[in-house]
Amino acid sequence: MPADFFERGDRGGGGSEGGSDFFVFKFRAEIDGYVELFRRLEPERIFELGMNDGGSTILFAELARPRKLVSIDLEPLAQVRERVERRAAAIGLGDAVRVFGGVDQGDRAELARIADEEFGDEALDLVVDDCAHLYEPARRSFNELFPRLRAGGVYVIEDWRWGHVPLGREETAEWVPEIPLSRLVVEIVLASATVPGLAADLSADGRDVSITRGEAPLSPGAFDVSSLLGTAPPPV
Ligand SMILES: C[S@@+](CC[C@H](N)C(=O)[O-])C[C@H]1O[C@@H](n2cnc3c(N)ncnc32)[C@H](O)[C@@H]1O
Repeated sequence: MPADFFERGDRGGGGSEGGSDFFVFKFRAEIDGYVELFRRLEPERIFELGMNDGGSTILFAELARPRKLVSIDLEPLAQVRERVERRAAAIGLGDAVRVFGGVDQGDRAELARIADEEFGDEALDLVVDDCAHLYEPARRSFNELFPRLRAGGVYVIEDWRWGHVPLGREETAEWVPEIPLSRLVVEIVLASATVPGLAADLSADGRDVSITRGEAPLSPGAFDVSSLLGTAPPPV
C-alpha cells in the first residue's frame, strides 16, 4: 500500500483533513484482500459506492490505474472531492477518476444515469459497495449495477454481517431497527440457485461478500434479485 494511506484503526495521528494523506475506512486485512483482488482481476472499469474520506477511491485508483473509476456518496463531500480530484490528476488519472457527491445509493435511476454517462456500453469489472450497509438501498444498487458487470466481474459488499455481531456495540446498536444487509446476501444466494449462470462464484468472509458475475444475460433497469428467490419443492 502506498505510504501515505492510513487504514481503519490507524488514524495515523489525526486524519487527512487538508493534508496529502488519505484515510481508508478498512482494516489492514481487508486492504490486503483488495490488493490481491486487483492483482487477479486487473479491473479497468470500477464503480465504488461510499467514499467517506476518499481514501478507498484513491487506493483503488492507484492499485488499478483504471480507464474509469466512478465513486458516489450521499454527502456532498466538496472538500473530499477536491482532494481526490487533485491527487488523481497528480498521478495522471485526472480524466479517469470521477466523483459524485449528493448521490443516494438507493436512487436506482440516478445510478443508471451516472453509469450510462460514464461507462456507456462498456461493462464494469468491479463494483464495491461500502455505503449505507442497509438492505433496501444496497439491494437497489445491486439490482442496477450487478447486471452491468461483465461475466467474471466482481461485486463486493462490505460489512455484510453487522446484523449478527454481538449487540451492545454502539455502532451496530443504532442500526437494529433496520433490515440487516445479510438479507440481501441470502437473496443473492437463493437467486443464484434459481438462475443458473447468475453467479459464477460466491464467497464470504467475516467482513465482505464477493459475487462473481456469471454468463446469464441480465437487464439493468429490469433486474430484481428479490423476484428470483424460487420456490422450493414441497417435501415428499
Ligand atoms: C464506510 S464509509 C465509506 C468508506 C470508504 N469506502 C473507505 O473505505 O474509506 C460509508 C460512506 O457511505 C456514505 N453513505 C451512507 N449512506 C449512503 C447512501 N444511502 N447513499 C450513498 N452514500 C451513503 C456515507 O456518507 C459514508 O461516506
